[in-house]
Amino acid sequence: MGQNDYVVIRAKEDGVHVIGLTRGNDTKFHHSEKLDEGEVMIAQFTEHTSAMKIRGKAEIQTAFGIVESDAKK
Ligand code: TRP
Repeated sequence: MGQNDYVVIRAKEDGVHVIGLTRGNDTKFHHSEKLDEGEVMIAQFTEHTSAMKIRGKAEIQTAFGIVESDAKK
């Protein structure tokens, strides 16, 4: 997956969090976005963002396919 690839996150409940983690030596949270049920976020991996953590129930569409997160909050 390249830096410019998009990821689609579709919230399946209220209060899903999309958390961006920094690229580089330190891996830290740098942004948290809250989605309510049915809301969609389209995000990229960038120079600043190397990873994303999704909390809550969501469908995540990537170049690798579709995954579901269903972690308990
Ligand atoms: N300023 C961030 C960046 O350019 C914005 C961002 C991009 C982001 N992708 C993200 C924030 C994914 C959270 C999750 O990297």
